Amino acid sequence: MEIKTDVLIIGSGIAGLFAALRISEYADVVLITKKEKNESNTNYAQGGIASVIDPTDSFEKHIKDTLIAGAGLCHKDTVDIIVKEGPARINDLIELGTQFTRKNGKLDLAREGGHSMPRIVHAKDLTGREVERALIEQVTSKSNVRLIENTIAIDLITEHNVQQLKDSPLKNRNCWGAYALNCKTNELIKISSRATILATGGVGQVYLHTTNPQIATGDGFAMAYRAGAKIGNMEFIQFHPTAFYSNSQGGNFNAPSFLISEAVRGFGGILRTMDGSEFMSKYDPRKELAPRDIVARAIDNELKKRGDDHVFLDITHKNKEDILEHFPNIYNNCLKSGIDISKEYIPVVPSAHFCCGGVVVDEFSRTSLKGLYACGEVSMTGVHGANRLASNSLLEGVVFAERASINIKEFINKFSGAIPEIPDWDDSGTLSHDEKVLITHSAREVKQVMWDYVGIVRSNMRLQRAEQRIHNIFVETEELYRRTKVFEDILELRNIVACSHIIIKSAKKRKESRGLHYTLDYPNMLPDNKLKDTILKNYNP
Ligand code: FAD
Ligand code: SIN
Repeated sequence: MEIKTDVLIIGSGIAGLFAALRISEYADVVLITKKEKNESNTNYAQGGIASVIDPTDSFEKHIKDTLIAGAGLCHKDTVDIIVKEGPARINDLIELGTQFTRKNGKLDLAREGGHSMPRIVHAKDLTGREVERALIEQVTSKSNVRLIENTIAIDLITEHNVQQLKDSPLKNRNCWGAYALNCKTNELIKISSRATILATGGVGQVYLHTTNPQIATGDGFAMAYRAGAKIGNMEFIQFHPTAFYSNSQGGNFNAPSFLISEAVRGFGGILRTMDGSEFMSKYDPRKELAPRDIVARAIDNELKKRGDDHVFLDITHKNKEDILEHFPNIYNNCLKSGIDISKEYIPVVPSAHFCCGGVVVDEFSRTSLKGLYACGEVSMTGVHGANRLASNSLLEGVVFAERASINIKEFINKFSGAIPEIPDWDDSGTLSHDEKVLITHSAREVKQVMWDYVGIVRSNMRLQRAEQRIHNIFVETEELYRRTKVFEDILELRNIVACSHIIIKSAKKRKESRGLHYTLDYPNMLPDNKLKDTILKNYNP
């Protein structure tokens, strides 16, 4: 099947949906998403969206908090953008129907780690679900947005897909859409577009333990890398300090860990080792409200020192009504696992949560390929530097979706060159898959290797081992991919292998410890004059 459109958007989280709405004001949009329309990291966001709303708060304070968390690597210009455009985008979300929690008619502002002020706009502890609900309602009411569910993008279309243009240099490459697969019907679709937005979210599923749902297999990073786009700072994987600890994943090694929001620590939650002792005061004067990299490393250190498999988060000193009022979702989820959080400590461990790097973009979400934009978690705007400040991600997604839509209007108006004839997907000579075990085994191995060797604490030896293991899996996976008809699991395996390779390669390039990248071989930060983003340019597993 072939679809032609003005703008193709891949992904239906906050970034893809908001961009679709804006672009529908001037052009036709096709939005593909690989599962049901609301399935995304956005849908599980709990804490909220950081923004300067309170009159006693200021842009300067939010900017300063973001720069401190980012450990010297944030791009100041893009931090300025998200902070200063934040309040207007929060207003847009409200006008689009999002119901944020209010107190006496005013937005209720929560506090989270690394923030010097309460500034987190939220909808109880289900902020993402409410944002998705409102945006999907709007998007599905637009007659010029065609939202196609259960359809996974396979690869971006660029010169390398067109025989006579195959050898054109990377510098001048265009993106003209993507090949996709309808996972229900197995139909292959060629979607050509004048502009394409990657809004595919994160990569948590590269790790054995993650807060991210199963869609987060890093498809956007991998597709962009294969197409030759610049990718940066992928060593900075954020581990959320407090995911609910369970010694089983219900038999499914892809099942996400349930998040215990940072807002619980903002609410007064205290971290304790298994013997009940508070420990954060040994690590940072901000204690539980220190930025995530510090809290996650402190927990990791306590677990290693004591040989325990989890720590506790304690809010039993808080009033039960207040707990239920602020955290109904967390309360009920813990209760399902037998823990009444108003009376018992919550067992928690760090879990892979967010990718601070991504497809390098400018201040209008433009990647290094003409016609290809990226926004949301898949992009690297420079906002997060070496460690993201809590609740800055939804903010970045909505601010940069708006900016992409402004630029795309100009881009498609000026678009002069015709899109060349794009060949159909060629699967001649391939066979249907009949040994799924090959894929599940490799996926499990990738996730275990990344968890053991490329986690919170790294070393040259661990990275070297991980590189070798992932390379072997890469060779096997590519061989399988070449001889098999495409289906979702092989595409996702191929993408987590590519992302693992990119993360390891970036981690090896950084010869220092900074923010979320901590290595035993280089425990100190380099002086600021040697500070650089780690940008990868060539597809080279
Ligand atoms: P997503 O919301 O992840 O959407 C990506 C979309 O792309 C999905 O629809 C997916 O199905 C689709 N997709 C992916 N690959 C393909 C493909 N190949 N083809 C087609 N479709 C594809 N951040 C905050 O700021 N505040 C919070 O309170 C907060 N809480 C969080 C809680 C949890 C449990 C998690 C996991 C994350 C949280 N985050 C939070 C981070 C934040 O939710 C994400 O960074 C953000 O939602 C990313 O939005 P996005 O639009 O970029 O991607
Ligand atoms: C949380 O609620 O702790 C998640 C917030 C975030 O990831 O920014």
